[in-house]
Amino acid sequence: MTVNSATPTGQEVEQLFNQIAPMYDRLNDVLSLGQHRVWKKMAIAWAVPQAGNTFLDLCCGSGDVAIALARKVAHKNRAHNSTGRVFGVDFSESQLAIARKRSESLPHLQPYLTWQQGDALNLEFENRMFDGATISYGLRNVIDIPKCLSELYRVLKPNAIVSILDFHRPQNISTQQFQDFYLNNLVVPIAKLWNLEKEYAYLLPSLERFPIGSEQVKLAIAAGFSEATHYPILAGLMGILVLRK
Ligand SMILES: C[S@@+](CC[C@H](N)C(=O)[O-])C[C@H]1O[C@@H](n2cnc3c(N)ncnc32)[C@H](O)[C@@H]1O
Repeated sequence: MTVNSATPTGQEVEQLFNQIAPMYDRLNDVLSLGQHRVWKKMAIAWAVPQAGNTFLDLCCGSGDVAIALARKVAHKNRAHNSTGRVFGVDFSESQLAIARKRSESLPHLQPYLTWQQGDALNLEFENRMFDGATISYGLRNVIDIPKCLSELYRVLKPNAIVSILDFHRPQNISTQQFQDFYLNNLVVPIAKLWNLEKEYAYLLPSLERFPIGSEQVKLAIAAGFSEATHYPILAGLMGILVLRK
């Protein structure tokens, strides 16, 4: 499948992530020199997961953030029952298959993890179910950001925090030029080595469409969140949007 600069449909996005699933983790490590793990740790810390919490990792992909969250919320109560739960939700079945396989090698975390195929724009959860949530590199890919934010708002408990990590379009022209260079001259050619050139060429247009931090804050407040702050990281090349219900 090819994704051009026009806004893709949800089905095209789903196909895209099914297609890149086998190479997705390896490419993330190569393209970020392993740094995505650090940024994801930062995003998880901002969401303040506590032992016994019920968390949502939306657009969970191959599951690394959901698994890291499970380590934080995993708890055995006095009766030795496992409490704490993480729901990893994604619409790409191929990404979820990798997440499931990954968690099979971590039997001690199995009781705390649920992988669920679902649409971020129409979540199959009750109102006020989650103590907190994360989205890592997902919000930019949903085709209706306000709808995704209002669904998140709906499923969170009052005062719950959601932490949203993603690429960000820097406002400084030279940093923007660096980002263009990185995406066009490093990411796309490296992805070409795995025959995924067209799939990764979608990154820059998706980023150009993605609201910048201050716009994300406005959208979150419009969705009902009481607090919204966007923290630029890496000179504004990435950002973490932290919201409180
Ligand atoms: C760039 S990947 C990020 C995966 C993972 N969170 C990570 O940080 O590596 C974006 C993910 O969002 C998922 N996605 C995009 N739109 C979605 C939607 N409407 N509902 C559910 N998942 C969606 C894709 O299938 C894909 O797995």
